[in-house]
Amino acid sequence: MAKAKILYVCSGCGSSHSKWAGQCGDCGDWNTLVESAPETGDKRSGFAGKSNTAAHIQQLEDVKMEAETRTGTGISELDRVLGGGLVHGSVTLIGGDPGIGKSTLLTQTLAAISSTLPSLYVTGEESLQQVSLRARRLGLAEKGLQLLSETCVESIITLAAKAKPRVMVIDSIQTIYTETLQSAPGGVAQVRESAAQLVRFAKHTGTALFLVGHVTKEGTLAGPRVLEHMVDTVLYFEGDSGERYRMIRAVKNRFGAVNELGVFAMTEEGLKTVSNPSAIFLSRHEKPVPGSIVTVTREGSRPMLVEVQALVDDSHSPNPRRVSLGMDANRLNMLLAVMHRHGGIAMYDQDVFINVVGGVRLTETCADTALLLAALSSFRDKPLPTSIFTFGEIGLAGEIRPVSNGQERLREAAKHGFKTAIIPKANLPRKNDAIDDLAIIPVQRISELMEAAISLG
Ligand code: TYD
Ligand code: MG
Repeated sequence: MAKAKILYVCSGCGSSHSKWAGQCGDCGDWNTLVESAPETGDKRSGFAGKSNTAAHIQQLEDVKMEAETRTGTGISELDRVLGGGLVHGSVTLIGGDPGIGKSTLLTQTLAAISSTLPSLYVTGEESLQQVSLRARRLGLAEKGLQLLSETCVESIITLAAKAKPRVMVIDSIQTIYTETLQSAPGGVAQVRESAAQLVRFAKHTGTALFLVGHVTKEGTLAGPRVLEHMVDTVLYFEGDSGERYRMIRAVKNRFGAVNELGVFAMTEEGLKTVSNPSAIFLSRHEKPVPGSIVTVTREGSRPMLVEVQALVDDSHSPNPRRVSLGMDANRLNMLLAVMHRHGGIAMYDQDVFINVVGGVRLTETCADTALLLAALSSFRDKPLPTSIFTFGEIGLAGEIRPVSNGQERLREAAKHGFKTAIIPKANLPRKNDAIDDLAIIPVQRISELMEAAISLG
């Protein structure tokens, strides 16, 4: 039998070569050739091509809606990020730093789900003993979990086709290899090809599949950005593995909203859902401290109060430091420039550090005013009262722009006892929507925002 030929495909231009080389002969890019699976004749009979003979053009309104079958996973915060439960035949990629709790979460999920659906946990990373030790520690030993320790994708699929699980976990995709390629497991080609086979299997059989993916130092899924295109849902673990709270964010979801956030606490008994996370990220200072203010963010579909802290200090370096944890560093630079140009406060000889309490990552622009007020408060060494909060976006022209769902944010903060709000004028509630016991300082320009802060602290 002739040996299947290996091809090397340039990831830049897509041309294929029979030999590996450092430079692509077609487009001239360096280090772009990766090994790829040889073309086989039956490619077209795969999942994607199966309707080739029967394909015909349809009107949108004639397309039959098959109800997506969803199953609750038994873990409410996971259901939330998945968009309301696990869709059958869907493929979900879960990424995160080592030790953040990916294996823990999936062990708990499978144990919870295995009473209703047969499920299979494939581990390529840990031994069966290690997995069972963890399950025992989590008190899930007798939940009827099925385990498999295997790293060859062909054997996994053969065994799974027999066992017919409805939910399957692959922990992790970087340890899985396919026999069709010769490169080592973990490489881009191996990961992509193994994932492609598993995705095809999931779509054919209607199995819900979870793939665990490692994250590189840069914070993206190792090797394969390509994986993100192949799957239906991409979830990222956020937070610090040293912190108590862990968050899962949906960055892509074909079956629900993105940027939805699920919140968990890591405890002795594994991950516990935090169903009302609105005030867990406040540090509750006894006395007001300079450089701290609360903002109301709306990550996903619910408002959350978070504290933004700043430290502004004389710099002894020709390049003062700008460090931002939990917020975009470019945004920090931009806001400092706006504050200088439109507010007349220069911090070019100061180190500026920004931190969002609790390891939360803010992706919304609603935290602009909070960042600015925290920096100003630290710069002046004057604390703001603990009963105030702020939200609003700041534009390059020094204007304060409204954010979405202002009323909901105001209510949430008022519920937690905050008394004064500094918010964009356009977010001012209408007369009959006014909230009891909440004083509102509406601002339109950055100068008004700074005056408001100076009059308060
Ligand atoms: P794990 O799920 O193994 O992480 P990952 O698969 O993402 O690499 O989680 C490991 C961390 O969680 C480990 O540092 C110990 C901690 N942990 C607890 O605090 N409590 C528990 O009940 C479990 C199972 C783990
Ligand atoms: Mg793990």
